[in-house]
Amino acid sequence: MKNIIIYDSLTGNTEELAKVIKEEFMDAYYAKINDTLMENIPEGDIYYIGTPIIKGMCTEKIKRLLEKLENKKIFLFATAGFGGSQEYFNTLKERIIDLLPKSNQVVGTFFCQGKMKEQVKARYLQLITEHPEDKNLQVSLKNFEQAKSHPDEKDKKRLIEEIKNKLDIK
Ligand SMILES: Cc1cc2nc3c(=O)[nH]c(=O)nc-3n(C[C@H](O)[C@H](O)[C@H](O)COP(=O)(O)O)c2cc1C
Repeated sequence: MKNIIIYDSLTGNTEELAKVIKEEFMDAYYAKINDTLMENIPEGDIYYIGTPIIKGMCTEKIKRLLEKLENKKIFLFATAGFGGSQEYFNTLKERIIDLLPKSNQVVGTFFCQGKMKEQVKARYLQLITEHPEDKNLQVSLKNFEQAKSHPDEKDKKRLIEEIKNKLDIK
């Protein structure tokens, strides 16, 4: 079975997950998305496609890739800064899966939190001093701290378990 791993990553979190999949399938095709690849998408049996969540969506490059795919089996994985609730991940999943032409089949998904840059925290702290009454900012700050350790070893283990489970690999 030919496994294809294609991902995008701005700060390395999603790349960490992609590497874990690569370690599981040593002979997989593995690449960070780029223009050349987009013009010549490799053939395979399962496509592991990874993206960070940027402004509530996958990256532009991953969007373009997903829109091009036809008749593929896809396992979608992503990291997001926010992620206290499964509901949030589900909304994102649906939004991204909606980009795929209907001939494709999504065989599984995996979402987890991914740490954010310290500037994000600095911005929250600044906003809190300006709007101390805004409870959402406290939630955002808490979320920032929660995200700091992710993706962690547990996330990586869950990712592989999910892949094996969904693809019925022993
Ligand atoms: C410009 C930018 C926009 C972001 N927008 C969101 C967002 O809308 N929702 C979210 O949950 N996280 C958001 N994040 C956080 C990233 O999704 C998170 O840190 C992710 O793990 C980054 O993955 P990467 O290291 O593979 O790029 C954003 C990060 C950046 C840099």
